[in-house]
Amino acid sequence: MEKILAKGSPFIGKQVQLRAVEKTDLDDIMKHWNTFESRIGLGTIIPMSSMMEEDWIRSTHEKAKNQTGFAFIIEHKETKELIGTCGYEEMNWIAKSGVVGIGIHNPENHNKGYGTDAMICLLKFGFNVLNLNRIELWVMEYNERAIHVYEKLGFKKVGKKRQAHFVQGSYYDIIEMDILRNEFEK
Ligand SMILES: CC(C)(COP(=O)(O)OP(=O)(O)OC[C@H]1O[C@@H](n2cnc3c(N)ncnc32)[C@H](O)[C@@H]1OP(=O)(O)O)[C@@H](O)C(=O)NCCC(=O)NCCS
Repeated sequence: MEKILAKGSPFIGKQVQLRAVEKTDLDDIMKHWNTFESRIGLGTIIPMSSMMEEDWIRSTHEKAKNQTGFAFIIEHKETKELIGTCGYEEMNWIAKSGVVGIGIHNPENHNKGYGTDAMICLLKFGFNVLNLNRIELWVMEYNERAIHVYEKLGFKKVGKKRQAHFVQGSYYDIIEMDILRNEFEK
């Protein structure tokens, strides 16, 4: 027991922690969710309504129950402010592989180390709790900050969908990145 406790909770980072998504999170999610600067990083800038987000909140519950996905709220450890959302969007239990996504909602909270912190928690959860062997993500080629964070954590660029994304009048590639368990352990 001491050995396990000594490793610490995978859900608690240096500045942020991950927790389950609650119905009561809707208003806080809506505060910054449609902010152009953040949404452009995620690829979709079409405004999302509170009804759509309510559906998403409900879907996280279903996915967790069926083990087809695991979504989390990223909250500040001290202030409990809702910083963003992240999680496993797809699971492949045969290949022990999962697809992650992350968003720090308020642009004023970018570049404060929260995204790196939350992604480390997600990786620890994936490798040490879900027993995954491979974790994958997709990122727009223009999202240099995200690519920097992912490479810093050990993700490698492994492929791309050419001109698969269209925004602001231009096509962009979508980059595939992944990290294997043994790379994370190093
Ligand atoms: C991408 C995202 C998750 C990163 O999280 P974050 O909290 O902003 O990032 P961090 O503060 O942890 O780290 C930022 C790092 O990127 C670097 N950086 C910032 N802007 C950069 C740029 N334009 N190019 C390269 N590196 C950049 C910083 O210097 C810092 O590097 P360091 O830790 O080596 O000093 C966050 O910005 C975000 O959610 N953006 C909007 C949604 C999004 O793009 N999601 C990802 C979709 S794949």
